[in-house]
Amino acid sequence: MSLLNPITESGVFRLVQLTDPHLLADPTARYRGLDTRQRFLAGLQLARRLQPDLLLLTGDLAQDEAAATYQWLYQQLQASGLTWRWLPGNHDAPELMQAWSSSVFHDQTPHWQLLGLDSHWPGQVAGYLSATELERLQQALTDPRPLLVALHHPPIKVNSRWMDAISLDNASNFWQLVDKLDLKQQLKLLICGHVHQPLSRQQGHTRVLACPSTAAQFTPQQDEFSIDDKALPALRLIRLNTRGCFSSRLIHYDPQAVTHSSSGQGCG
Ligand SMILES: [Fe+2]
Repeated sequence: MSLLNPITESGVFRLVQLTDPHLLADPTARYRGLDTRQRFLAGLQLARRLQPDLLLLTGDLAQDEAAATYQWLYQQLQASGLTWRWLPGNHDAPELMQAWSSSVFHDQTPHWQLLGLDSHWPGQVAGYLSATELERLQQALTDPRPLLVALHHPPIKVNSRWMDAISLDNASNFWQLVDKLDLKQQLKLLICGHVHQPLSRQQGHTRVLACPSTAAQFTPQQDEFSIDDKALPALRLIRLNTRGCFSSRLIHYDPQAVTHSSSGQGCG
């Protein structure tokens, strides 16, 4: 476990989430008619302006699962000058990611621990946490400090029938472990991607947050797959405070400018 940015102002750790960029190796290729490289770079530029302590990418990094896509992404992230972590989604190839940087993480800040889980399930669109990943969660829950868990697939229903069929398949294992071991209620925050829409739900003592994609957005609460052409991409800015308190804000953007934001907060 490595210590991230031990000298943060007032003990506050600022994290930016970007998710589901669905990048392509061919710069002229398009995903659902969109230039996902350009959209991602706009999000990355906005993230750089915010100067977070950590940039976190929560999966579906490459639409084509190509080595060249991860190389391009790695180069952009390194050039950003930010400290960053990435996680695999269903569209990713974790072994190709690992050629550049670990596809999971367990870091600490002065007041929190940050755990990134791999929910990639080979050959499946839905997610699955292996025994190894559940063990990593179990280990983190033995630490009494507040815990943020990040993974690609949401371990909750989002009220879209088609999406709920491809969420985290063994979410019950995840929550059983939390119910059994999280006696001090350390798991304050869980952040995920996959849903391509804003999401903020309370599950027990855990706030579950998801973020729109930097690429295309899905229409919320649909029985069948549906794209919302008018919805803007966004990033999520999270402030991890002392004593397990946090706040978060979505910042929507068109490729040129920030347009509006919405906020939420909590405290353990
Ligand atoms: Fe995605």
